[in-house]
Amino acid sequence: MNTMTQRSTLHGWRLFLLLAVTLVALALAAFATVPDAAEATRAAIRVTARTSFLLFLAAFTASSFAILLPMPATQWLLRERRVIGLSFAFSHLLHAIAITTFGVLNPAFWPERTALGNLPGSIGYVAILVLAVTSHRGIARRMGPTAWRRVHLAGMWIIAAVFAYSYFKRVPANFWYAVPSAMLFTAFVVRWIAKGAQKLRRQQRTGQRPASAHSAR
Ligand code: HEM
Repeated sequence: MNTMTQRSTLHGWRLFLLLAVTLVALALAAFATVPDAAEATRAAIRVTARTSFLLFLAAFTASSFAILLPMPATQWLLRERRVIGLSFAFSHLLHAIAITTFGVLNPAFWPERTALGNLPGSIGYVAILVLAVTSHRGIARRMGPTAWRRVHLAGMWIIAAVFAYSYFKRVPANFWYAVPSAMLFTAFVVRWIAKGAQKLRRQQRTGQRPASAHSAR
């Protein structure tokens, strides 16, 4: 399949539909493979958190990879960032459905949790809702580019912080959680390097301007 064909098939709502069907299938597969219904729901909670994490990482680093490694794959990722972000929100909707189901199957779940314990996740959900609503093109246009960028940057960092908290706190109990923690840390570093590279390029461009203006005279 050439790049043009890929571009015409894997984009926009078609991509969203493909991702949404895959996410539902993965959540159902996680549920179906564990015999006990409550434990099966916990497996679905974990799977939906993990699919959300991968989609979030893709959206969070899309512009950085497009700056650092300009190539068709990273340009595609950047172009489809909105769809990937919405798929992340859909995956987290499945996380919420799995949590609600677990609460029904295990009535001790919510009473055992504290308001403080629910705070990071609740803030995360507010951020996801705000990002999903403001990704509507009409709303984004009305907000203007500066306000939109500020809201999206803040929302992304809030969600990154909730993921960092969710994974870091699990490392002492299970060292494998160091893997997603390291992936998140790598994403922070990639964004930081891309920001530096962009700044450097901008400085080089403005630094070259007086010289070219001089030679043009
Ligand atoms: C009030 C809202 C939320 C509640 C009540 C909640 C509940 C849970 C529960 C009970 C688990 C553990 C499942 C298990 O191992 O048995 C879990 C896992 C997780 N949740 Fe949530 N969650 C919430 C919101 C969020 C948000 C907003 C995020 C991220 C932005 C998130 C990310 C995660 C992650 C990363 C895991 C670990 C998955 C794994 O084991 O790999 N959660 N959540």
